[in-house]
Parts: sequence; C-alpha cells; structure tokens
Amino acid sequence: MGSNTLTITDNRTGKKYEVPIKEGTIKATDLRQIKTGEDDFGVMTYDPAFMNTAACRSAITYIDGDKGILEYRGYPIEQLAEKSTYLETAYLLVYGELPTATQLSEWQYNITHHTFINENLKGVLDAFRYNAHPMGILIAMISAMGTFYPEAKNIFDAEIRQRQIYRLVAKMITIAGFSYRHMMGMPKVYPDNDLSYPGNFLNMMFKTTELKYQPNRALERALEVLFILHADHEQNCSTSAMRVIGSSQVDPYSAVAGAAAALYGPLHGGANEQVIRMLTEIGSKQNIPAFIKKVEAGEGVKLMGFGHRVYKNYDPRAKIIKRVAYEVFEVNGTNPLLDIALELERIALEDDYFIKRKLYPNVDFYSGLIYQAMKFPMDMFPVLFAIPRVSGWLAQWQEMLEDPDQKISRPRQIYVGAKRRDFVPIERRK
Ligand code: SDX
Repeated sequence: MGSNTLTITDNRTGKKYEVPIKEGTIKATDLRQIKTGEDDFGVMTYDPAFMNTAACRSAITYIDGDKGILEYRGYPIEQLAEKSTYLETAYLLVYGELPTATQLSEWQYNITHHTFINENLKGVLDAFRYNAHPMGILIAMISAMGTFYPEAKNIFDAEIRQRQIYRLVAKMITIAGFSYRHMMGMPKVYPDNDLSYPGNFLNMMFKTTELKYQPNRALERALEVLFILHADHEQNCSTSAMRVIGSSQVDPYSAVAGAAAALYGPLHGGANEQVIRMLTEIGSKQNIPAFIKKVEAGEGVKLMGFGHRVYKNYDPRAKIIKRVAYEVFEVNGTNPLLDIALELERIALEDDYFIKRKLYPNVDFYSGLIYQAMKFPMDMFPVLFAIPRVSGWLAQWQEMLEDPDQKISRPRQIYVGAKRRDFVPIERRK
C-alpha cells in the first residue's frame, strides 16, 4: 500500500502536487495551491447540495448507507429502540455516554421542571389563526421563546448553554401540545410532571374532562420509540442548517428555529405528511401500477417516503417503525391506508426503476400511518419529527461550538453572471 496521499498532475501546467489523504478525505483548501499563475485563485471543489463533502468531523451518529446501519454514539438504533427511553437517548446524544442512574434522574428532573412556557408566549400563539400550520407556529414560537432568555447569547458559557438545552428539549412538547389545542379551539393543557416525556406530550395533546390524563401504555411506548428513532441522523438538511446558523454564534433558539424551518420541507421532515397525502390520492391497491408509472415517467412525481441521500438500503428506522405500527394498530385499530402502503412497498421493491436507483422505504414511509392511527392530524406530523430532533440538533450544535476546526460557514461560488458593465440610466434601458 502506498503513502496516504493523492498525486495530482495539473495538465494545464504539467505541475505535480502531493495532497495528503486523512480519514478518507482531502482538505479542499489543499487544492488552492493548484494554480495556472500568480493571479489564479486556485482550484476549488464544486459540490452543490454537498453530495460528496464532509462539512465536519462528528462523534455523534454513524450511518452506513449501504448496510443500513444507524448508531448513536456507537449504540445500534435497534438496541436503543428496544431498551432505552427518549430522554435517556437524548442525554446520550448530547453528552456522549449513557447516563448513570443519578445522571438520568437529574436530567429527567431538569427537563420535567422546564416544560412550562412563559405565559406571554401563549399570547404569541393566540395571535395565529386557527388554521395556521403547527410547524409554522412551532418555528415562530421557538424564535419568540429565545427573546425570554437573553442569557442564551452567552453560548460559550457551559452552564448557560446547559440551561437552554434543558429548556428547548423540555418546551418542545408544550409548544407542540399548545399549538394543537389552538388549532382545535380547545383549552390548553398544562404539563403534568408525574408523566413520562411522551406521556406528558400525549396529555397536553389529548386530555379532555378527566382530572388526570392516563396515557395508554402501548401508545406511550410507541411514541417513545418514534422519538428515539427521530432524535438524530448525522448531517441531514436540518442539522446542517443548525450548524451553519450556529456557526455565526447566534443563540440556540434562533439556530433551532432555522433548523426546524429546514425540517418543514416536503423532501425532509415534511415527507411523512406527504406520504399520507400520496396514499390517500392513490386510494386503492388497484391504482398502484398507474401511480408507479407516473413516478417512472419522471414527471416530478415522487414516491414519498422512499429514497435517501445516504441509505442505499432499507432505512433501519423504517423496519422498526413498521413493527411499532402493528403495536399501535392493535390498540387503535389498523389504518386503512396500510394495505396500500404494504402493496406499494412490495411492488416498488421489485421494480427496476427503484432497484436501479437503490430507493427503499425511509423513516417517513410508515411513520405517518402510525401518527394517523394515534389520532394526530397530518399537520402535526412534521412537528412530531421536530420534537425529538431538537436533541440531535443541540448535540450537533454543541459539538460544532467545541470543534477547533469550525468557524463561520461561508461557502465559495462559481460566478457565472454578467461581466463588469456600466450603469444604464432608465431612459436608455430597453
Ligand atoms: C428524511 O438526510 C437525512 O438523513 C434525512 C432524514 C433524517 O432523519 O434527517 O433521514 C429524514 O428527510 C428522509 C427523506 C424523506 N423524504 C422523502 O421521502 C421524499 C422522497 N424522497 C426523495 O425526494 C429523495 O429520495 C431524497 C430527497 C430523500 C434524497 O434525494 P437525493 O439523494 O438528492 O436523490 P436524487 O433526488 O438525486 O434521486 C436520485 C434519483 C433521481 O432519479 P434520476 O434523476 O436518476 O432519474 O432517484 C430518483 C430521482 O428522481 N428518486 C426518486 C425518489 N427519490 C429519488 N424517484 C421517485 N421517488 C422517490 N422518492
């Protein structure tokens, strides 16, 4: 085996360059030395959508897209889904190790005792129309919440940072619950500190006239698993947004609001809502072949919930979610769209168009079916994604702040616009 370097010959000049290879990468800035002359800026990489660019070194989440492997801090997602809780997993993501019993109870205490939001924030929420999308409300409320904690700007003070992490993890379920109740025109339900994190969320969503809400154990556990599965996913679109926004050293509330905005997109966290709309539009198993033909015709119709930038195999989370779906259906009755989803998956997995492009079900393909069976309205689906993802965003943000390699994100460009020209007075413009 030769040395860990690339030898690059610039055929424009005949010059040779040795570029070190480290951790399977070369430093893009090492290419700047490749010039045709003194006034040449040097070679850059062109990588729209970062298809082949590592933006950071991270120790949080490992994905092997070909093998369908997902690990949080080295622990397989299958084991965490079976044995852990969302708050324990969130601790693991943020601090790097599974908590001791003392650490976990302190973490749970702090999260539980930060679930209340400032009463003034209810005023912000009530300003929205009843039909405002809860994801739009969530983004606004997270940003508004930051104005109540000006100390959060001291992002390099570990203790202050810690308090904001408690607040953001804790208050996501309260804001989500309150926004649902606002949509339904129902009174807001306050947190109940006796309940688990998912149980408390169900309480703030669905409590009616009973004095104390008792979550259904199977549904509470199903939501716990869904939160664990959605907690982090290395450098996905919304996490990259969190890191880029955070690199300007803004407070974490503003960065999380931006990350949530990225997650809102139909190609990202909004996909589970689109899956239900797609399955509803297909309407019956008989219509599947015609729908698949539309997808293959390349008319911009996608099989939502399929495909992934990294997974070129079955998304391991989709496998677990499929199992959880049946547990929820046992309690709440099956979802009539399930048969269409199963048949769609069966056909797609045998279809050359999907096989050739390595398109498999991703985390969003079945999650919407569960949420619908749990009586969550479709608008809430991306909110259900954002709630647990906030711990991943915060873990990645904190890692970025502590990474000596990181500085403010500011990519380069290839300028393809007009050459220099003089201003034209309006009377002479065509
Ligand atoms: C999430 O990054 C993450 O980790 C995200 C996430 C997380 O946890 O944070 O895992 C969560 O966002 C999951 C993805 C949810 N989105 C969807 O289900 C929307 C449908 N999927 C696609 O839009 C797409 O697969 C993406 C956006 C997920 C990935 O897109 P890529 O990697 O940019 O791939 P591509 O669009 O370049 O597709 C390659 C080819 C293209 O065909 P050709 O141009 O080669 O002919 O595959 C086709 C695409 O048209 N293709 C699809 C398809 N996804 C890709 N064709 C039909 N249906 C699809 N779903």
